[in-house]
Amino acid sequence: MHSLSVALAASAAVLPIAFAAAVDSGSAARSCAWEKLNGTVGGRLHALEPLALPCFSVYKNNPVAPDAAACAAVQAGYTKPGFRTDIAGAFMNNQVEECASNPVDQCLLDNKTPTDPLAFADGASCNQGNLPDYYVEVATPADVQAALAFSEKTGTRLSIKNTGHDYLARSSGKGTLMLWTRKLQGLSYDAAFVPEGCSGEKPVQAITTGAGVNFDQAYAFADEHNVTLLGGYSSTVGASGGWVMGGGHSVLSTVYGLGIDRVVQFKIVTPDGQLRTVNSCSDPDLFWALRGGGGGTFGVVLESTHKVEPAIPFVAASVSFTSNKTTIIPFLDIIVNNTQKWAQEGWGGHVSGSSLINITPLLSLDEAKESLASLAAYAESQGGAATFTEYDSWYPFYQKYVRANEVAVGNTHLAGSQLVSNGAFGTAEGRAQILSFLTNIVNAGTSPYIPVVGPVLYDAPANSTSATPAWRTAVWELGVGSSWAWNSSLAQRQAAATALKAVGATMSAFTGGSAYMNEASMFTDNWQQAWWGDNYDALLSIKNKYDPKKLLNCYKCVGWTAEDTAQSCYSAFA
Ligand SMILES: Cc1cc2nc3c(=O)[nH]c(=O)nc-3n(C[C@H](O)[C@H](O)[C@H](O)COP(=O)(O)OP(=O)(O)OC[C@H]3O[C@@H](n4cnc5c(N)ncnc54)[C@H](O)[C@@H]3O)c2cc1C
Ligand SMILES: *[C@@H]1O[C@H](CO)[C@@H](O)[C@H](O)[C@H]1NC(C)=O
Ligand SMILES: *[C@@H]1O[C@H](CO)[C@@H](O)[C@H](O)[C@H]1NC(C)=O
Ligand SMILES: *[C@@H]1O[C@H](CO)[C@@H](O)[C@H](O)[C@H]1NC(C)=O
Ligand SMILES: *[C@@H]1O[C@H](CO)[C@@H](O)[C@H](O)[C@H]1NC(C)=O
Ligand SMILES: *[C@@H]1O[C@H](CO)[C@@H](O)[C@H](O)[C@H]1NC(C)=O
Ligand SMILES: *[C@@H]1O[C@H](CO)[C@@H](O)[C@H](O)[C@H]1NC(C)=O
Repeated sequence: MHSLSVALAASAAVLPIAFAAAVDSGSAARSCAWEKLNGTVGGRLHALEPLALPCFSVYKNNPVAPDAAACAAVQAGYTKPGFRTDIAGAFMNNQVEECASNPVDQCLLDNKTPTDPLAFADGASCNQGNLPDYYVEVATPADVQAALAFSEKTGTRLSIKNTGHDYLARSSGKGTLMLWTRKLQGLSYDAAFVPEGCSGEKPVQAITTGAGVNFDQAYAFADEHNVTLLGGYSSTVGASGGWVMGGGHSVLSTVYGLGIDRVVQFKIVTPDGQLRTVNSCSDPDLFWALRGGGGGTFGVVLESTHKVEPAIPFVAASVSFTSNKTTIIPFLDIIVNNTQKWAQEGWGGHVSGSSLINITPLLSLDEAKESLASLAAYAESQGGAATFTEYDSWYPFYQKYVRANEVAVGNTHLAGSQLVSNGAFGTAEGRAQILSFLTNIVNAGTSPYIPVVGPVLYDAPANSTSATPAWRTAVWELGVGSSWAWNSSLAQRQAAATALKAVGATMSAFTGGSAYMNEASMFTDNWQQAWWGDNYDALLSIKNKYDPKKLLNCYKCVGWTAEDTAQSCYSAFA
């Protein structure tokens, strides 16, 4: 009580000035509403500052004092996921932060050389871009309820950010009030978990993670309990946010399914303000929607519970060599020819250029060597190497291969993957078509990127999840991407988007166009069909039931419409 009234008093002193810029013509009533909100959320409402602001001497066209020490820290951490993920105003990829339709509406550094003064000197202005103006650092369900009530009352749109990994700019949004869930850090293990209200179900081993827990934290915790939690190939992706609600692939998915197959319960505040415990017994329709319908639209998740496995032993293979445009093709040919066989043997992993890192929990060390012998022999013939290692559990593999090899961020990285079915590899024509596509992208100077993460051997009950049904027949998530420079013009950005669309159209010839909503092209036109297939209509009716006023409305999320695109930072790309 006491600390709350202190917070209220303090905010009363600063708010009218702080909010002056945000409210239409300084409306006193609206300013008062923001001030009240800050009191209700215990003072955890903050102005959202762009990451690179300390380097600039102009902010939103007003002079500001740069802060050399803070700028140096931002420059040092600029491309590191672990640095960005703990800062409210920082996202992994620039397309989330910049207003893509207006190249001067952004606050970016030169990601190749973050100290390059070209980005911030000589009166360059740091602008808000696609970033929200304010955020609430969520600590309690009541914070979310207050923000929802505020949104309904004032018409301020909301966004939800957890770790900031979303490629499609969904965890941000110009003009929104952002709910930041990264500080929700609970973690617990239950050896015999039964979803609330379910009776007669067989208890399972499970881990419950607060919405803000990332995989680095969740994997370490699972290891302490000697169990395996399936998760992303990244230390900073969150276990309870967009990853699990959108699908959630792991290199163990071939055998153990996707994140949506393994989550057994969510705690969520729905847009009507209700705090709900959602599982297959309590709210089957909402639970179905949360397992594949995507983050950011059905409510604000506070925690999720995932079924875990006893420590899973597996063999890891790392096969690589230094390639050129010619020598990489036979390597890809061997991979294409063996994709169906390897999936049956439990392999999952990633092919990145002429490097393959795959694991299988189904083969012995000798069987694994035999299985990949032709690939290993080819890599060795090209001066490369193949290593095969047995692991007793996930965590040491994670430390060696995942945590030690984080991709650099802080750039514009437009995803554009599509799902390739196992069946597409079933005929010589099909394989030739896929190899020809890969050859073309190699010749165009791009390096193939193939997460082998389809749940080929996992037997999911019919209609148990709402992600595109194409996941159930997929073996590859074939990744293509595009980018534009931090200082690109609108024409250059549009050209990159057009190129990405063209590659997507070529891929669709053998993929059918279905894609993983979390790693698809944000310029997909028929996104409802591409990302959810025949599940979209049911998802939309569940969305309308729980959020009839559209308080949550992220970019190309369930419920988003063409008119919404027109008002976004991506209108020039529609
Ligand atoms: C480097 C990198 C590696 C990746 N590796 C993998 C991988 O191995 N496997 C895989 O499947 N995907 C991977 N992805 C994609 C990843 O699954 C998506 O980016 C996903 O959206 C991240 O979810 P998040 O909650 O961590 O991120 P955020 O960007 O914070 O959120 C993503 C979406 O979820 C919503 N959301 C976040 N928190 C909540 C919440 N508490 N309640 C409701 N909605 C919420 C947001 O509004 C947004 O729509 C990777 C992405 C990157 C950038
Ligand atoms: C909200 O209140 C806290 C605590 O008084 C204060 O530190 C913070 O600056 C306020 N938020 C805004 C946006 O003024
Ligand atoms: C799948 O299940 C959901 C949730 O229960 C339901 O709304 C939807 O109609 C089902 N779809 C089919 C094709 O049965
Ligand atoms: C961890 O679990 C595995 C598999 O269940 C078991 O064989 C092993 O003994 C356990 N290790 C420890 C340290 O408890
Ligand atoms: C690619 O590498 C191979 C083997 O090292 C070499 O013979 C060939 O000339 C190279 N081709 C190109 C185009 O560089
Ligand atoms: C892959 O299979 C095709 C026929 O489907 C064959 O022509 C080609 O030689 C095979 N490649 C390798 C490396 O085995
Ligand atoms: C964009 O930035 C790069 C450095 O990253 C620089 O070489 C180039 O000249 C800049 N382009 C424009 C148009 O300013």
